[in-house]
Amino acid sequence: MTSDTKPPVLVFGPYNADGLAELERRFTVRHLKSRDLSELSEGERGAVKAVAVAGHLPNEAMDALPALEIVGHFGVGYDGVDAGHAAGRGIAVTNTPDVLTDEVADTAVALLLMVVRELPQAEAHARSGEWEHKGPYPLTRFSLRGKTVGIMGLGRIGLAIAKRLEGFGVAIRYHNRSQRGDVGYPYDANLAALAQASDILLNVAPGGASTDKAIDAEILRALGPDGILVNIGRGSTVDEAALIEALETGTIAAAGLDVFADEPRIPERLRRLSNTVLLPHVASASRDTRILMGNLVADNLSRWFASEALETPVPESAKAGLMRRP
Ligand code: DGY
Repeated sequence: MTSDTKPPVLVFGPYNADGLAELERRFTVRHLKSRDLSELSEGERGAVKAVAVAGHLPNEAMDALPALEIVGHFGVGYDGVDAGHAAGRGIAVTNTPDVLTDEVADTAVALLLMVVRELPQAEAHARSGEWEHKGPYPLTRFSLRGKTVGIMGLGRIGLAIAKRLEGFGVAIRYHNRSQRGDVGYPYDANLAALAQASDILLNVAPGGASTDKAIDAEILRALGPDGILVNIGRGSTVDEAALIEALETGTIAAAGLDVFADEPRIPERLRRLSNTVLLPHVASASRDTRILMGNLVADNLSRWFASEALETPVPESAKAGLMRRP
């Protein structure tokens, strides 16, 4: 295919380098690094049929592209794209499930162990020479032995985490919008009950209006002074101010966080706390996995332009029948 015959794709904002290279191989790419549509002329905006984005695509941007047909979202969590709004305009949205499940589940278990066994703090102790000069790292307050892990959001990733945790001999329970028929783990119909019954509350739930600040002061109180929160889902699901307060006052014991309310900004008070392990949203961030995610975005866009069924339309698009280009 020559560049003349390659379908055009607008890449909106910062995008993974391998993913961009794959898009450039298959499409004629225009990359708006600054997410600023005013860089395009009215004619150019009117010609955009496909957008690839990692993160936020405001509705105003979607609405400023009158011929837009499809948005390929790089990432499984597509809370940055209003898929309902898109469906209302007849725009399909795809995301990147499955290809990142194992990577995110591995990171979730690692983060859980890091926070429970204070491994980053112990590593800093070894690296700084304190072991030699001050003595051994103190025994950790917590161990996984005999613990219950409560998973909020037992979807594909939550289940992959649960399967891994089975190997650690912990008890597992979960909260979802509805009970799954295919798992034997105890189900808590409300989140407070899950927090109450768990030593470690692990959030995997997607972001968006239905989970916004769902883990609030009440849930943290239910988790209790020996409780640990691990968040690998979205920062928006936790009331971050309430979490900081709970960590400072001992309402809960510790937290391991890969996601934050206003990334990449992490509140100073959170960064100062020694009972936190903080990661910069890296759960799926290996090169191998990001290549698979980028390829899946490109596959969906290729299928769209070929009028073939999309591989991974989001549920809102599937429900609206936006499964292939008419
Ligand atoms: C995802 O895929 O949703 C990850 O959080 C990366 O954004």
